[in-house]
Amino acid sequence: MTYTLITGASGGIGEAFARRLASDGHDLVLVARSAEKLEALCSELQSSYSIDARYIELDLSTPDADKELFEKTEQLDLNISFLINNAGFGSQGDFAVLPIEKELEMIRLNISALVGLSHLYLEKMRERRSGTIVNISSAAGFQPVPFMATYAATKAFVTSFTEAISEENRPFGIRILAVCPGSTETNFFKASGIDRATTFKGQQTAEDVVETTLKALKGGRAKVISGWANYAVASAVNFMPNALISKIVSRGLRSRYQK
Ligand SMILES: NC(=O)c1ccc[n+]([C@@H]2O[C@H](COP(=O)([O-])OP(=O)(O)OC[C@H]3O[C@@H](n4cnc5c(N)ncnc54)[C@H](OP(=O)(O)O)[C@@H]3O)[C@@H](O)[C@H]2O)c1
Repeated sequence: MTYTLITGASGGIGEAFARRLASDGHDLVLVARSAEKLEALCSELQSSYSIDARYIELDLSTPDADKELFEKTEQLDLNISFLINNAGFGSQGDFAVLPIEKELEMIRLNISALVGLSHLYLEKMRERRSGTIVNISSAAGFQPVPFMATYAATKAFVTSFTEAISEENRPFGIRILAVCPGSTETNFFKASGIDRATTFKGQQTAEDVVETTLKALKGGRAKVISGWANYAVASAVNFMPNALISKIVSRGLRSRYQK
């Protein structure tokens, strides 16, 4: 019996993955800090789809959380064949005055936990010569984003790291994919303390991101951008120097964050 482990499964994109994969018959291990939400989701998915769904309450931004999670799944003898590193948050503002503890917490969650979990679960996947890892990155990682500097940089790391390990692990039959959503209708902006319209016409849903991911996993690419509009922007950005992009992006936000 194999399990799909999803971090950040108590809401948004992670929950959409849980719902879709449960309906496809996957047994699940769901991870986040909100135990009540995870418990309710597990019982709903178990009764609707006759799958096994477990949850582990954990703050993945704490040091050694990756090892703690791995050890728990080992103790429970859960064979993780599919890992979705999805938990993440952002921030917006003038880096010099943003609370540094929150920025460092973001780096621990968006980067350290994702790298640690990828490493820990890869060992067993290599032994079995099969497995799948999906790392949720962001279109924000394609360029520097002034006033969202740390978040965009964490996602640049995630995309680069994931594309590299995807290639390294091809000979071992392990499929690794970086998924880059653009703005998606979830609790992300509120959770990240970002004051902006959280929904707009044409914005992707969490289910759109899941659909893009599952389609991309059938092919061999190491990275996928979710949504044609995000793809068009990312392609245009490829032809522009970072200095110009930074100037354009900061124009709208400087007056808000620097008096
Ligand atoms: N929404 C967007 O516009 C967008 C765009 C591009 C990329 N993304 C990426 O998509 C991923 C999912 O975000 P989302 O949009 O679904 O946001 P969301 O609705 O805020 O969901 C975030 C999930 O991560 C969990 N989480 C947050 N901090 C955690 C921690 N310290 N330890 C464990 N779990 C934690 C949350 O659960 P608890 O609070 O219960 O812990 C929740 O389940 C993130 O990596 C984000 O960067 C989002």
